[in-house]
Amino acid sequence: MLNKFLNLFKKEEGERPSALTDYSAMLVDFHNHVLPGIDDGAKNIDDSIMMLRYFEQLGIKKVIASPHSMADGYINSNEKILQLRDVVREAIKKNAINIEFDAAAEYYMDELFMEKIEKKDLLTIGKNYVLMELSYLSKPNNTGDAIYKLQIAGYNLILAHPERYPYYYEDSFEHFKNFKDRGAYFQINIGSLVGKYGGQARYTAEKMIDENMVEFVSSDLHTIAQFEVLRDCLKSKHLEKILNSDKLRNKTLL
Ligand SMILES: [Fe+2]
Repeated sequence: MLNKFLNLFKKEEGERPSALTDYSAMLVDFHNHVLPGIDDGAKNIDDSIMMLRYFEQLGIKKVIASPHSMADGYINSNEKILQLRDVVREAIKKNAINIEFDAAAEYYMDELFMEKIEKKDLLTIGKNYVLMELSYLSKPNNTGDAIYKLQIAGYNLILAHPERYPYYYEDSFEHFKNFKDRGAYFQINIGSLVGKYGGQARYTAEKMIDENMVEFVSSDLHTIAQFEVLRDCLKSKHLEKILNSDKLRNKTLL
């Protein structure tokens, strides 16, 4: 027991802690679920306002909400999303929160998404970036088709939390490299860096940072309670590394 304790102590002693105190180096969070009552994120405007206040305290200057868009659950029209964005903007003004606010979407790769690409009906982030997520359970076989169609339509793909797709863990990063070769940008979830989604997601996210494969980071925040995780993440050396990296593009979204 004593040895175990001493070993733990030795390990911690050897590591310099991250120097991060907040998220001011990140500036923009563009993957979160702060729009009220539209998906599995904020339940009402009070939740949204509290979340935005926490973001402000953490040094974030701009928040772009990305509610789910999927055929099988959350069919959120652009009109609905933009209308709610305006409601939140009003509440931000009323509550004197110093955050710039916008909204886009997190598109699940399904038939609704493919239709929206063809109609050029996607809500974009910054320079025509589209945030796309995949199934957590089964390996999709048409990612190449989706990427091709996005590019033909003039969109830039950001793959949401690539570290969270277990079916890609086994192939020594071959699938991930293939995404990069096709021009996809990667957005990892900050919580992955402290193991919020399990050890393998953490290992994968850290390795992606070490191999310079990450252009974006975001919270993927769904609940107020998750701010505890965001505070905890500030101790991550890999978070410090990516926030100080020239490769990080979050600030280009300001
Ligand atoms: Fe999300």
